[in-house]
Amino acid sequence: MPLTRRWNPQAYDAWYESPLGKLSDRLEKDLIFSIAGVKGGEKALDEGCGTGIYTIELARRGAVSTGVDSSKEMLDLAGAKARKEGLTVEFVSADALMLPFPDGCFDMVLSAGMLCFIREREKALQEMRRVLKPGGKLIVGVLNKWSPWAAFRRIKGLFKNTIYNRVDFISPPELELSLVRAGFHVKELKTCLFFFPINCRMYLEFAMPFERLGTIATPRLGAFLAASAVKP
Ligand SMILES: C[S@@+](CC[C@H](N)C(=O)[O-])C[C@H]1O[C@@H](n2cnc3c(N)ncnc32)[C@H](O)[C@@H]1O
Repeated sequence: MPLTRRWNPQAYDAWYESPLGKLSDRLEKDLIFSIAGVKGGEKALDEGCGTGIYTIELARRGAVSTGVDSSKEMLDLAGAKARKEGLTVEFVSADALMLPFPDGCFDMVLSAGMLCFIREREKALQEMRRVLKPGGKLIVGVLNKWSPWAAFRRIKGLFKNTIYNRVDFISPPELELSLVRAGFHVKELKTCLFFFPINCRMYLEFAMPFERLGTIATPRLGAFLAASAVKP
């Protein structure tokens, strides 16, 4: 069953305009696209596309991009942003557990952030597998259970009603196991966001050395966990 909630698309995108949001967005996108290897003309599905952050980036990189999400509010803003850029992107309202697409029709499925909101994680992954072509790529990004950010957000959740009280943080072995159980060949798992989440521009100017150190010293502890896998 999906962890249903109402989304506020304006507030969601506003966070990405904050110092912490901008830096996180850049580092997460660098990680996702370094393992995605998008080729022009590829048919890509962005599942749980939200306000279209990745759907639009896929289109900018030459993919034939479709976004799917269960929140009409998020899709409306995603569509408006794509139109403003003059990009051709299709946005579809649907549940990730029942995608309205035929078997084997996408070269790539990308999903950033959505799996943490779905209790039936493996069922969602099986549905991603169904719509991928054989040999097709899956790229998923989730909130890493092993990260200090997850601990901090859980503690904050004890005192405040935040979105993080309702998400499933996922560890690298849990993600790998879910992917294997859903029938994927896992290629790689990587993380990013090793500095502490303080939304202050001056502090974040010194974040990159921590980022480089974390990649080397604690490569599985970054707050954003991304995996690439292939449908056999
Ligand atoms: C954290 S947001 C991520 C949005 C976007 N991928 C990004 O990285 O900015 C999670 C999104 O997943 C969507 N979502 C959650 N459960 C879903 C489901 N069962 N089917 C489709 N979308 C779902 C939500 O509506 C929300 O837009």
